[in-house]
Amino acid sequence: MLNDIEKVYYSEEQLANIVAKLGKQISEDYKDKNLLLVSVLKGSVIFMADLMRAITVPCEIDFMCVSSYQSGTKSSGVVKIIKDLDINLEGKDVLIVEDILDSGRTLSYLKSIIEGRNPSSIRICTLLDKPERRVVPDLMADYSGAEVPDEFVVGYGLDYNEKYRNLPYIGVLKREIYSE
Ligand code: IMP
Ligand code: MG
Repeated sequence: MLNDIEKVYYSEEQLANIVAKLGKQISEDYKDKNLLLVSVLKGSVIFMADLMRAITVPCEIDFMCVSSYQSGTKSSGVVKIIKDLDINLEGKDVLIVEDILDSGRTLSYLKSIIEGRNPSSIRICTLLDKPERRVVPDLMADYSGAEVPDEFVVGYGLDYNEKYRNLPYIGVLKREIYSE
């Protein structure tokens, strides 16, 4: 698996620093709030697990799993809920925790679903952002760990065909792996 990596973008140490910084900022901003972290499965699980331990104010967690309907190679922007939240969102300050913000379609749809359930507030925290790829122009993360260029990255939860999620760092695979 390690031989499949072409280039490391963010090492374990760099990721730990990024997560610590986000956790500190979130802890300050949600001091007197009712924080509920909503992790979008599966890509954000590792980020979520580290981020919640970097947050020093009380919080609840929940998980949601969605899949986007594909039309050819493009995602349509309509997502299907595979696993819904258990917690009632009324009175909660929801922070959506995502692995990567790409076109923005998934998060845009998810945000509108969550908004319809009357939370006190709703914000987005993404580990990585690929701003060059955005097709939903006004969709921005309130908290963003780091930017990546328009390349397909894996590791730290992010997959290629469901593999490589267990790499402890974020990197790019060798070209021949993607074309296999
Ligand atoms: P969006 O709806 O286009 O913003 O899609 C975001 C989702 O696509 C993320 O939650 C990831 O699951 C997946 N994704 C986008 N870019 C990458 C990547 O570089 N590596 C792995 N997954 C990615
Ligand atoms: Mg994914």
